[in-house]
Amino acid sequence: MDIKEYVAYRKEELRKEIAMMDRPPKLVIIKANDNPASASYVRGKLKDADEVGIDAELIELDPSISQKELDKKIEEINNDKDVDGFIVQLPLPNQIDEEKVKLEVIPEKDVDGFHPCTKFLPCTPKGIVDYLRHEGFDFKGKNALIIGRSNIVGKPMARILLEKGCDANVTVIHSRTSEEDKAFYIAHADLIIAAVGKIGVLDGHYAYKKDAVIVDVGINRGEDGKLHGDAMPSLPVKLQTPVPGGVGLLTRISLMENLVEAKKRK
Ligand code: GUN
Repeated sequence: MDIKEYVAYRKEELRKEIAMMDRPPKLVIIKANDNPASASYVRGKLKDADEVGIDAELIELDPSISQKELDKKIEEINNDKDVDGFIVQLPLPNQIDEEKVKLEVIPEKDVDGFHPCTKFLPCTPKGIVDYLRHEGFDFKGKNALIIGRSNIVGKPMARILLEKGCDANVTVIHSRTSEEDKAFYIAHADLIIAAVGKIGVLDGHYAYKKDAVIVDVGINRGEDGKLHGDAMPSLPVKLQTPVPGGVGLLTRISLMENLVEAKKRK
């Protein structure tokens, strides 16, 4: 199944499950930036919520908000019995300490999966693993290469792929890895997760295993004004996820699934 078909199927499952609930699960999205990419992600999340029957509320705060005011807002939502889960959309303005914010969202409502004691898997890695499992990818003993060490994708992805149940051999490379080593790891990888945020991280000049799978997490605005992934299109591998219409959709469905789980656990 391609990602669009898969996401439509998962949404339908969620919609049926939610329809049986005593009340719709409630999601709150706090947005405190005027970043156009963020605005587009948030629109996507609200659209998905609407389609599956989640009650979603967007709280837009002024980007000049102080840390104290944001802390107060988060505390209010933590204590709101009607809210099952909430997220604070990243990036946050410079005057705000992002790490502090991640610690403030109570683990029971942390449907982004960002708190160290969170009850949930981070949405992007969860979405990728769920999709590949559905496609029959067996992670056990496979060489997984993660390119990029971000807190939001690279690091949690490495942890999930290492855990029991996945049991992959995990390598993480990053901006300080030599070009020679990068080419070596790519040539040996069964699964490549490209999560740098730069066009051309993977291109036709590398040697790939012909059965390799490339998951492209990058969403980059090119000079042509269009969206591009980190990987150049149509590389000689078995499966390569598209951009747009790829991992972004998987992240969104994971958020909805985490929210439904949050309500069920209440
Ligand atoms: N910004 C980019 N991706 C995400 C995400 O998954 N969650 C939040 N909160 N912010 C983001």
